[in-house]
Amino acid sequence: MSKTFYITTPIYYVNDVPHIGHAYTTVATDTLARYKRLKGFDVYFLTGTDEHGMKVEKSARAAGVTPKELADSVVTRFKDISKLLNISNDDFIRTTEERHKEAVRHIWNTVKANGDIYLGHYEDWYCTPCETFLTKSQLADGKCPECKRDVEKLKEESYFFNLSKYTEPLIKHIEENPEFIEPKSRANEVVSFLKGGLKDLSVSRTTFSWGIPVPDDPKHVIYVWFDALTNYLSSTGYPDGEGFEKYWPADIHIIGKDILRFHTVYWPAFLMSAGIALPKKVFAHGWWTVEGSKMSKSLGNVVDPYEVVDEYGADQFRYFLLREVPFGQDGDFSIDALKGRINSELANDLGNLLSRTVSMIIKYRGGVTPAPSTGKDGEAEAAINGALALLGDRFDSLIGGLNFSEALEAIWAVVRELNTYVEKSAPWKEEDSERLDNILYTLAAGLKVISAYIGPFMPESAQKLRVQLGLTGELADGSFDEETRWDASVSGLTVEKTGALFPRVE
Ligand code: MSP
Repeated sequence: MSKTFYITTPIYYVNDVPHIGHAYTTVATDTLARYKRLKGFDVYFLTGTDEHGMKVEKSARAAGVTPKELADSVVTRFKDISKLLNISNDDFIRTTEERHKEAVRHIWNTVKANGDIYLGHYEDWYCTPCETFLTKSQLADGKCPECKRDVEKLKEESYFFNLSKYTEPLIKHIEENPEFIEPKSRANEVVSFLKGGLKDLSVSRTTFSWGIPVPDDPKHVIYVWFDALTNYLSSTGYPDGEGFEKYWPADIHIIGKDILRFHTVYWPAFLMSAGIALPKKVFAHGWWTVEGSKMSKSLGNVVDPYEVVDEYGADQFRYFLLREVPFGQDGDFSIDALKGRINSELANDLGNLLSRTVSMIIKYRGGVTPAPSTGKDGEAEAAINGALALLGDRFDSLIGGLNFSEALEAIWAVVRELNTYVEKSAPWKEEDSERLDNILYTLAAGLKVISAYIGPFMPESAQKLRVQLGLTGELADGSFDEETRWDASVSGLTVEKTGALFPRVE
């Protein structure tokens, strides 16, 4: 039985259409999921939509439709974007599905039976865009400290979750499991928040109805975050489904930094209360600005992934998102930066290398990649082997540590080494036929290895590259170690020139 790997994205609110922020989390998650599959893990990759709550209800009202109608139309946009970006998720959960609602009722009842839910009155502030309860002292100039928008005063009967009881157990868990929250700076942030003390959390609302009714008290609907976080369980078939047995606890929840507290305070507290194991890791990535400004509808600078992919290609966009900014830090999106990386790193460094290699194999060897010639390896070949060995040593910990940009940089160090090799060995001048065989073989073998390394990041291009080398079939699950091994499997294959791997953009 292969080892399991359960990985998730947040579930996206359906009051908004997909933008670069959503694409980012999903592409990063997909890349890690694909890598783990290539390494032979039994991967379960979940994404989906968060469809209940005040915010969705309000947006629906403004659009003159019911919340369910709004959800049904926006969910297709999220599913389309997944297709467009080549996302390999195993399930797509919607919180309006019955299987999810059942799981939410079950965990609610379990937490309640364990004495952690009680009826009281909530009288304080609420931020609808963030779906967050706030105290007066948390407000910043009377606004939400997170999104800086207006908050509203609530006064209603509410069920409370006994969050304060979990302050110490949470601190202890975070301190004893240094890999639970990453990057490290985020863990420190959460611990200092916890050390400030926790108040019990309001977990139901009575002033609107778009949500899952509280079992036995249907005038209340369950707080949207209690509902939404449970998606990570409900997709697996919690409480008694096979998937729950098999995949829980999740190996990693990938989220944006804005929703850190929900995932590292509320979520583990609910799970502790219900007696369920905690996820092994929560990784919070940074936020994108656009051409230096915060992305917002009012500024009209929201980056639409459909447009970017249409113009520049899905793999180009995937590459840019993960290469441009170290995962965990904030970054800036601009079309100039995207074009720069496409032209220099994708088109020039890798695309040209492939095109030259294939052209030379056609020109000098009738299109069939030669076998290596013994005794013809020199210093130049040794340098390539050295660069590949270094990449092999570092890659698993880089990508496993979600250090995507450095992982790509490490791959490109080898790509550059191969380009230097072409220049230095100048096959067009080579008169020794065995030596020429060796050069052409080295380039093709190197590109084969590169195709496996870029596979998780740019699945379509990796496949196209392999087709040009004459390799048949997709990169198979569990094949990573074999595919990244330097070997003669490319020898004797007929190459195929099928156009630029990454066309230059103007
Ligand atoms: N529905 C909640 C999550 C519930 S998970 C149990 C939610 N949804 S969201 O649609 O508003 O945001 C989803 C993700 O998009 C978050 O991880 C958020 O960080 C990310 N992004 C939204 N805007 C972003 C940027 N400008 N840049 C990067 N990521 C951003 O929160």
